[in-house]
Amino acid sequence: MVTIRTATTNDATIIALLGRITYSESHGKYIDNKKHLLNYNNDAFSLKKIKESLSIPDNVFYLIYVNKLPVGYAKLVLNTTFNNKTPQNSCRLERIYILNDFLPLKIGQQLYNTVINKAISLNFECIWLSVYIKNNRAIQFYRKNNFTKIGVLQFKVNKKEYENTVFVTKLERIKKN
Ligand SMILES: CC(C)(COP(=O)(O)OP(=O)(O)OC[C@H]1O[C@@H](n2cnc3c(N)ncnc32)[C@H](O)[C@@H]1OP(=O)(O)O)[C@@H](O)C(=O)NCCC(=O)NCCS
Repeated sequence: MVTIRTATTNDATIIALLGRITYSESHGKYIDNKKHLLNYNNDAFSLKKIKESLSIPDNVFYLIYVNKLPVGYAKLVLNTTFNNKTPQNSCRLERIYILNDFLPLKIGQQLYNTVINKAISLNFECIWLSVYIKNNRAIQFYRKNNFTKIGVLQFKVNKKEYENTVFVTKLERIKKN
């Protein structure tokens, strides 16, 4: 059984652990120096940072469970534009990550729909995100969900830059479920 719920500051430990494991699983192979990967994970997914992030009102985190096990999470950031290339009334899907073991279940769409329905309910016009140019599965997923490219940004891991495509989609075009 798949369930999804909004996360609170009480979920910081789960999100910190899911965050670093899913990041290493999906992006670790692109980072040659494993010390850099460790440093990135220690910093980006420290309990302190995740707790702080969970307590910011414009951040909305979701957890997805399979048979009561937490297997992924998403982070929606409200009220944020991409370099003024998106309307003022935009939000960002900053993270959407499912554990490798559970990818065959293809449950990303359910988590994504929950995020999108929240953004629609808050009357956001657009949602944008960035994805590493080599992350073909995620790119295919976003294309299937009507995202189009509006730019690039450099994602830094230990001072090394990784090119990300910036995608956007208008929220009216997504059917509510
Ligand atoms: C991105 C993510 C949430 C999408 O959820 P999902 O459940 O995997 O999504 P789906 O399976 O519905 O869609 C992925 C599509 O990519 C396809 N795909 C799988 N592997 C692929 C690959 N190596 N290259 C290209 N396409 C691929 C799938 O077949 C599917 O397309 P289809 O439905 O037309 O067959 C999930 O893959 C994930 O968590 N990945 C790891 C973390 C990650 O990269 N997050 C995104 C960071 S920007």
